[in-house]
Amino acid sequence: MSTNALPHTRTQSGSEDRILRYTLAERVVHWVAGLSYIYLLITGLAFWSPYLFWLADLVGGGPTARFGHPWMGLVWSVAIFWMYTAWREDMRTTPADRKWAKHVGDYIRNHDENLPPIGRFNIGQKQFFWLMLFGGIALLLSGVAMWLVNDIPWSWRWLRYTAVLVHAVAALLTIGGFIIHVYMGTAMVRGGFTSIIRGEVSVAWARMHHRLWYEHVKGASSREK
Ligand code: HEM
Repeated sequence: MSTNALPHTRTQSGSEDRILRYTLAERVVHWVAGLSYIYLLITGLAFWSPYLFWLADLVGGGPTARFGHPWMGLVWSVAIFWMYTAWREDMRTTPADRKWAKHVGDYIRNHDENLPPIGRFNIGQKQFFWLMLFGGIALLLSGVAMWLVNDIPWSWRWLRYTAVLVHAVAALLTIGGFIIHVYMGTAMVRGGFTSIIRGEVSVAWARMHHRLWYEHVKGASSREK
């Protein structure tokens, strides 16, 4: 497993039965990504359909939304890039993930006791991460092309049309991933939401959901003592 898990040994509470799952920096960047994405979602949907334009009123009206959307897109892109630099090793698919994926039926039916052990993230979390990364790159490139549309010469108009199409497709894909992510993180996996707020999880939670990660962290912490 990656060495990225090594800082996750000391908890703020110092309690023996708690493990640090997300550092303060990871949590802050995650919520910058989360809140900026919600702003992009509201303003983006407002521009997409006249039926949804009322959404712009939630964030200060049409002109404010039009001004804020591209700048907030840059904030979101920086947060995603930071996540990539911090988590890319933990997000690689491993043989343990492939084994786990064969038991996904048990995961859905809440028979977690039948699941093989996995590392810091499960394969669904990893696929969501890569979807947001590549979706984010597509949204950034197509978004910048639309932002600077007046500088694109008429002979390059294919670029304008491609940018609109790419932006819409990438937005729909990331919205799908976002809805599943929020549902899984808030309603389905108990203890996950507290971890992205406070940073810590219980030893029992870590052993139940991410046993290989737990053993790695435990090994690192006993070496530190
Ligand atoms: C605003 C609504 C959001 C909520 C309620 C939310 C919730 C959560 C929770 C509970 C976790 C911890 C899961 C665990 O460790 O078991 C998490 C992790 C994570 N979040 Fe979010 N999140 C939100 C937005 C986002 C956005 C917009 C992104 C886009 C980059 C994102 C990317 C991630 C990633 C990559 C992880 C680590 C792996 C994973 O659990 O999928 N989150 N989030």
